Amino acid sequence: STSQSDTLRTPIVAVLGHVDHGKTSLLDKIRGSAVSEGEAGAITQHIGATAVPLDTVSQMAGSLVKPEDFDLPGLLFIDTPGHHSFSTLRSRGGALADIAILVVDVNDSFQPQTEEAIDILKRTGTPFIVAANKIDTTPGWNPQEGEPIQKSYEAQSQRARSKLDEKLYEIIGELSDMGFSSDFYWRVQNFQSNIGVVPVSALTGEGIPDLLGVLMGLSQRYMKDEMAIDVAGPGSGTVLEVKEERGFGATLDVVLYDGTIHAGDTIVVGGANDPIVTEVRALLQPRPNAEIRTEKRFDKVDEVRAAAGIKIAAPDLEDAMAGAPVRVVGDRDTDEVIREVEAELADIEVTTEEEGVVVKADTLGSLEAMANALQEAEVPILRAEVGDVAPRDVAVASTAREPEHEVILGFNVDVLSNAEDELDKNDVKLFEDDVIYQLVDEYKEYVDEMKR
Ligand code: GTP
Ligand code: MG
Repeated sequence: STSQSDTLRTPIVAVLGHVDHGKTSLLDKIRGSAVSEGEAGAITQHIGATAVPLDTVSQMAGSLVKPEDFDLPGLLFIDTPGHHSFSTLRSRGGALADIAILVVDVNDSFQPQTEEAIDILKRTGTPFIVAANKIDTTPGWNPQEGEPIQKSYEAQSQRARSKLDEKLYEIIGELSDMGFSSDFYWRVQNFQSNIGVVPVSALTGEGIPDLLGVLMGLSQRYMKDEMAIDVAGPGSGTVLEVKEERGFGATLDVVLYDGTIHAGDTIVVGGANDPIVTEVRALLQPRPNAEIRTEKRFDKVDEVRAAAGIKIAAPDLEDAMAGAPVRVVGDRDTDEVIREVEAELADIEVTTEEEGVVVKADTLGSLEAMANALQEAEVPILRAEVGDVAPRDVAVASTAREPEHEVILGFNVDVLSNAEDELDKNDVKLFEDDVIYQLVDEYKEYVDEMKR
C-alpha cells in the first residue's frame, strides 16, 4: 500500500524518572499488561521496549486521539530502570529517544534520578512532557477510571482539587529551578518552549488519554520531518541486552531506530573485543503491546522496519555488548560498516591507566557514566569492561600496586560463582551497587577509612 503510515517511522518515546514513581505501571496501563507486578520488588532491572500500535493508542485515548488525524504507525515506548542512568542508550552519538515522558510521583516530587533524567534530556536536547503520576492518592480523591483529566477534575471536591494543584505547582516550581518553564498541559500553547505537565494515575488510568493525546500531537506536529526517513534503507539499532535463548544461543534485544533489517542480512555489532560480523539467522518480533523483556511468544518475521524492538538470533553474539551499535551492511562495503561501528565505540571508550581500579558495568553507557563519575572523584581506572565480575577481573585487580586500587567496582552486574572463590583467595575487595553515585561514595569512604 502507499498510505503515509508506511513511510513514516514510529517515534521512540523514552519513559524516565525516579525509582518507583510508576514508569512501568504507566506502560502497563497503556498496553494492558502487568509487567510491574512480575518484577522482583517491582524494580525494573533492564531497559525494555514495547511497540504500541495506533489502534491501541486511540482506544486508550478515546476522543483525544482519532486515528484518522494521524499518519504515524504508533509509538515505541522504552521503559528504563529508575535507578539507572539513561545515558546508557544512544543512537549515532545522539539520544535514542525522539521524545520522553518524565514520570514524577506527585507525593515525592523531584528526586535524584528525576534530576539526573532532566540533565540527560537537557544535554541531548530531547523534548519531553511530565506525567505527574499517582494523582489517585490525593486525599479525598474520587477516582474516574480511564477518564480524561478534565472530566476527572470535575468529579473532585474543591478540597481534593486544590490539594492536587498544590503538588502540581511544586513540580512546576522544581522544573523552573532547573531552567524549564512549564504549565498544566492544557494551558501550553507552544510545547517547544514550554513543558506540559499532565496529571495522571497509572492505577486508575485517569489522565492517560491526555498523555497519549499530547504525545501523538507533539510527534505529529513537531517531528514529522524526522519521522519521514528512508525506512527502507539498511537498519541501524542499539543493543538493549544480550540474552541466552534456548535453541538460539546468545541473542540480542535491539531497538531498531532507523531503516530495515531482514532475516539473512549481514550485520556488524559492537563486541567486547572487535566488532562482530555475522548473519541474521532469525528475527523474533514481540507481539504488539508486549514488552520485549518479558515476552515469551515471539513471531518469526522476515523483515522489521524502524522503529521497533526486535530480538536478533545470529551466530557469534556471545561478546556483543549492551549499549553497542548494530548495523545492517546492506549493499555497502563491510569494512566501511566495521569502521563506522568502531568509530562509534571509540566515542564511548573509557580512558584507562597503568594503575587504578577495575570497573565492571552492565552496559556501555553505564560504563561510561561510571568512568565519568570516577574521573570526577579523581579515581584512576586500570580496566573497564561490560559484563559480570569474572575470575580474570579479580586477577587483574590483584595486580594493582596501591592497596586502595585492589578493588572491583561492579555496577548492576552479577558476580560469577568462580569469581567469588577468587575474591576470597585474593585481597581484592568488591563494591557493588546499582546507583552510580552511591557506588563511588562507598569506595571513597573505604579509601578515607584506609588512609586514616
Ligand atoms: P522502577 O522500575 O524500579 O524505577 O519503578 P517504576 O517507576 O517502574 O515504578 P512501578 O511502575 O514499578 O511502580 C512502583 C509502585 O508504585 C508499584 O507498587 C505501583 O503499583 C505503584 N504505582 C504506580 N503508579 C501508581 C499510581 O498511579 N497510583 C498508585 N496508587 N500507585 C501507583
Ligand atoms: Mg519500572
